[in-house]
Amino acid sequence: MSKIKVENVSYAYRNSYRPVQVLKDISVSFEEGKFYAITGESGSGKSTLLSLLAGLDLPQEGQIYVNEKEMKQLDRDQLRQKDVAVIYQAFQLFPLLNALENVMYPMELNGIRKAEARQKAQKYLRKVGLADRIEKHFPKTMSGGEQQRVAIARAMAAGGDILLADEPTGNLDSENEENIIRILRTLVDQEGYTVILVTHNQKIAELADVQYQMKDGRLLEKEA
Ligand SMILES: Nc1ncnc2c1ncn2[C@@H]1O[C@H](COP(=O)(O)OP(=O)(O)OP(=O)(O)O)[C@@H](O)[C@H]1O
Ligand SMILES: [Mg+2]
Repeated sequence: MSKIKVENVSYAYRNSYRPVQVLKDISVSFEEGKFYAITGESGSGKSTLLSLLAGLDLPQEGQIYVNEKEMKQLDRDQLRQKDVAVIYQAFQLFPLLNALENVMYPMELNGIRKAEARQKAQKYLRKVGLADRIEKHFPKTMSGGEQQRVAIARAMAAGGDILLADEPTGNLDSENEENIIRILRTLVDQEGYTVILVTHNQKIAELADVQYQMKDGRLLEKEA
């Protein structure tokens, strides 16, 4: 089943003196339970595409379907709270909340009771290899790799099964990078997640099931 389907999507930024055409007639289908990597030069439009997949903006032309529903018809705030999670290079944890509370927070926003949110948060933190001291650890006392793992646990806790990752290991050393990629791979293989990973690292991209390259506003599939 297609988790996200993109049909003839074009997108231009219109906030400068002349529009910047970033995406040109892109069509692609991201299937359930697969790991995708997108590479491409800086400024080629990778983050722009991801922001459209997350419903942060709508394309001027073309359609995007999430779980076979048209993005335009969806409540896009709810989409981001429930169906599609995004993780970034900057981990964007709440500095005043400890690791456990960071994972609980979006669940509580979604109306899940505290006891249940706590239990689920513990479960997801365990899945990313963080079981200890999760109530003692605040973002500033965690390493980059640990913070990113909390961000992944938080994304999983939101309940969706589509994970968009924009250079999630850009700030990490190679050991932590491998660790994060292994976690993403496990999510795909064992939990049926669909992961779309933007990366500059060709070696990492090669670990995906399907590789795309963004070039001149188009998305080209790379031969494995
Ligand atoms: N808010 C914006 N307003 C105007 N132009 C923008 C905006 N955001 C990005 N752009 C332009 O759109 C193009 C694509 O940017 P985007 O951030 O999608 O690239 P990217 O492939 O993610 O690059 P990087 O690898 O450096 O993160 C660039 O030319 C950029 O300057
Ligand atoms: Mg980018």
